[in-house]
Amino acid sequence: MAALVLFGGGGDLAMRMLLPSLYFLEHDGLLPDGLKIIGAARSEESRDEYVSKVRASVESKAKADDAWSPEAWARMEQRLDYLAVDATSAESLKPLKDKVGEGECTSFLAVSPSLYARIVTAMRAAGLAEPGDRVVLEKPVGRDLQTFSEIDDAVSDAFDEHQVFRIDHYLGKETVQNLIALRFGNTIFEPLWNNLSIDHVQITVGETVGVGDRWPYYDEYGALKDMLQNHMLQLLCLVAMEPPSDLDPDSVRNEKVKVLRSLRRITPEEAERVTVRGQYVAGKSEGEQVPGYDDERGLDSDTETFVAIRADIDNWRWAGVPFFMRTGKRLPEKRTEIVIQFKELPHSIFDNDRGQVTANRLVIELQPQEDISLSVMNKRPGLDQRMQLQPIRMSLSWGQDDKDAKPPRRRIAYERLLLDALNGDSTLFVRRDEAEQAWKWVDEVSQAWTDGNVKPIEYKAGTWGPGEADFLLERTGRAWNTKNG
Ligand code: BG6
Repeated sequence: MAALVLFGGGGDLAMRMLLPSLYFLEHDGLLPDGLKIIGAARSEESRDEYVSKVRASVESKAKADDAWSPEAWARMEQRLDYLAVDATSAESLKPLKDKVGEGECTSFLAVSPSLYARIVTAMRAAGLAEPGDRVVLEKPVGRDLQTFSEIDDAVSDAFDEHQVFRIDHYLGKETVQNLIALRFGNTIFEPLWNNLSIDHVQITVGETVGVGDRWPYYDEYGALKDMLQNHMLQLLCLVAMEPPSDLDPDSVRNEKVKVLRSLRRITPEEAERVTVRGQYVAGKSEGEQVPGYDDERGLDSDTETFVAIRADIDNWRWAGVPFFMRTGKRLPEKRTEIVIQFKELPHSIFDNDRGQVTANRLVIELQPQEDISLSVMNKRPGLDQRMQLQPIRMSLSWGQDDKDAKPPRRRIAYERLLLDALNGDSTLFVRRDEAEQAWKWVDEVSQAWTDGNVKPIEYKAGTWGPGEADFLLERTGRAWNTKNG
């Protein structure tokens, strides 16, 4: 019988995301038959105590989604077990190995990454890293290329690469996978997907939350390493990669690595021109007065809570097409989107006023809605002497052709990823060389900031970051997408 071990099984990630995801998979009949789910953490508690904690967390989430079923919970409860362990000690892991038994074991490390190296070493000694076993690693693995490699060396001493599943939860989001379907399941986009038709690409990940309790972690990382190194570069790769020959994990990841390798280095001389660092100060967020980043801890910090970058991909497809990325805390909206901005008409027959025709724009929205829409020009109805045009939005989203269909429940990204890890499919996980290339590029940006003494610029909480981020586009004659186009 197979087992899933959740190290850190009583922690925030496990309770808020992993166990509810497992419940939803159970609810939908997707968990493998006989799979045991074993929570492993430091605190001495009984199985019953653990099970009731899990139930409390799962039940409230399931009820909120109208998906609570006592039968499904009863099935999940049967699978659950708990063991108090010191995961860094092989001796302490032996009873866990006994509980797991002889079947395949997938271990999810939902603990501080500073423990990863010691845990995998202990797992290996305790027999939890056998050929059929797998390990799932939550981000952040390391703070830079060097610390990433140190941890990952320990991981690869214990496991072969095909047994290692590095999570980037953005890859589990439905619309991110839909991007692959959109690009490679249609013939109409791919011929246009290059520098002949596309003017530029924007990737925005806006969050309204501040850093709050996560301050000590966040202050070591900042927006560049917390969001851009992983989630945003992954999105960029999926937009920019060449068509893979199939959906095999390595076919897709080979193409993503090529994109990362083609990213133009950002030198200290360039840093001021193509990057913007920001840090929020007190302001109004969602109608409430909130403190600035430094005030949250009463400390002076040079960590950025906002970053905007112009990235260039030096290959044939993307030469001359800038990719603008921005992300930050305490922005006006929780909004994640990818905007593919097509070029202007080469020649307009409609009016001398070029403003009348706006260039096509494909907006792939991940949050708060999952939606893909294409703006196209249309004739405004009426008898105007000169034909008047207007842009309309065509939604390419699920359910457009069947208005009565009930939309599927919005899944937690971890549902997809847990299921894939249990099935051994690593397509939506990050391969070692991908993570290395992403760190390499990000390390150079970070070094360029240090060498060039580039400090964060203040922005008021509740705004879209420093004005310099707008200027990054404006000086090239472009602008960030606004909500309504
Ligand atoms: C995490 C970051 O990886 O992603 C957080 O550490 C961030 O800082 C979160 O808030 C955003 O995830 P999502 O799915 O809410 O966009």
